[in-house]
Amino acid sequence: MNQADFPVILQHYGQDHILDHYSRLAVDRQKELYDHIAGFDLDLVFELHKDRAQAGGVPSLSAEIKPPLVIPIPRTPEDMDRHAAAKSAGESLISDNRVAALIVAGGQGIRLRHDNPKGTFPISPVKNKTLFQLFAEQVKALRVRFSSRIPLLIMTSPENHDDTVTFFTTHNYFGLEKGDVLFFSQDMLPTITPAGELLLKDETHLLTNPDGHGGSLKALYASGFLQHLIDLGISELFYCQVDNPLVKIADPVFLGYHALAKADCSTKVVRRENIDEKVGVYVSLNGKDAILEYSDFGGLHMRAVDEKGKILYWAGNTAIHVFNLAFVSRLNDHGFALPYHCASKTVDNLRPDGTTGPLDVWKFETFVFDAIPLAERTCCMEVDRREEFSPVKNKSGPDSPTTARRAMIRLHRGWVEDAGISLPSKIKVEISPLFALDKEDLAGKLKGKTLPLQKDMYLE
Ligand code: UTP
Repeated sequence: MNQADFPVILQHYGQDHILDHYSRLAVDRQKELYDHIAGFDLDLVFELHKDRAQAGGVPSLSAEIKPPLVIPIPRTPEDMDRHAAAKSAGESLISDNRVAALIVAGGQGIRLRHDNPKGTFPISPVKNKTLFQLFAEQVKALRVRFSSRIPLLIMTSPENHDDTVTFFTTHNYFGLEKGDVLFFSQDMLPTITPAGELLLKDETHLLTNPDGHGGSLKALYASGFLQHLIDLGISELFYCQVDNPLVKIADPVFLGYHALAKADCSTKVVRRENIDEKVGVYVSLNGKDAILEYSDFGGLHMRAVDEKGKILYWAGNTAIHVFNLAFVSRLNDHGFALPYHCASKTVDNLRPDGTTGPLDVWKFETFVFDAIPLAERTCCMEVDRREEFSPVKNKSGPDSPTTARRAMIRLHRGWVEDAGISLPSKIKVEISPLFALDKEDLAGKLKGKTLPLQKDMYLE
């Protein structure tokens, strides 16, 4: 597109309201609006609108859905042996400098209503550490434990990139090497009304939205960091979301199972709490592993129970994955391969009279888990929700800071009690990742020690 053709193109897509606005702008502002819009793939946007985004993964009526094969939480001696072997394989991967970690933090965090990037939300129960600090400290502790580099990648969006980078700079990268914390930004897509109209955010910009967490696999490639990691000899990428303070970054057991299965893509799942929990479900779909959003899954399957009355499709998605980097390269080789989904939202929008008001819109996004059915080999592992999954989505109620803090306290109290120290019931406990990364680590550190038990406890 060039600027001379711009009016014709807007007309072609039925965007006369944008054209009217454009024609009223001063020449330099016209150029600004043109440059902004020319940065988007309008063909894609209007095609998606036309198809209303053929949602990837939605099972057709004839699809064969089965519970998937999942590595269980170890209970038997054989399970324990397998777990130990996986742990040792994962530890070797980390020690051999073959692992990097990615935190996707480009979302808008609308439900949490925090004014800054979600990773800057203070969450830890005693010290009020932010999500970013908890993750960075885990990486720092792993680097020390394994004498390994473990680059930490943070995916932002253009909306929160600068604030995120400034946050890390101000906090001196939480003790990590500056060169090993890599920021890259995902793409945005124009938000559109159900009637197919683009919307103005201000005089020279459209209303846009980040292109979904699936955009991470594209932006990793486009930013050049995928090649950078490969050049460093890294082969596996640990992936998690910014909103889960319980996540075990680069968990060696998980990495080990992934590596032993020679998987392209691996996933941690937890048992769904109840049939109404709004969580994606890991299933076998037409013989391939896949995750279906709860909204795509359909009430019948969502509510199905086995002969013992237990939830049949029990494996809830934690959004914790490991990706093999050669697989991520393949996904990008001939154009990015993930399908787009359409989310209906209500947003505040600028009206022609300069006021703002609520409007129903469609957002197009890709989901990272749509990579799973594209993988040749996958691996899925069950973990205990109480130990690894408590996302911060909402300001209050379920999946909120209150539930996440409660989960952190319960977990860390459990580690202390497992180390043989009994705690008065009211005491909050927070364990710095720099002190201990897991309960075995803690037990070693506390051996032969006594702790003051009168007040809330921070172990560092
Ligand atoms: P959610 O889908 O929960 O969205 O993202 P959100 O932005 O955190 O919150 P709401 O829906 O606006 O309230 C799950 C994870 O995926 C990341 C988020 O930052 C979060 O870590 N994400 C989501 C992205 O990185 N980019 C996106 O485009 C969407």
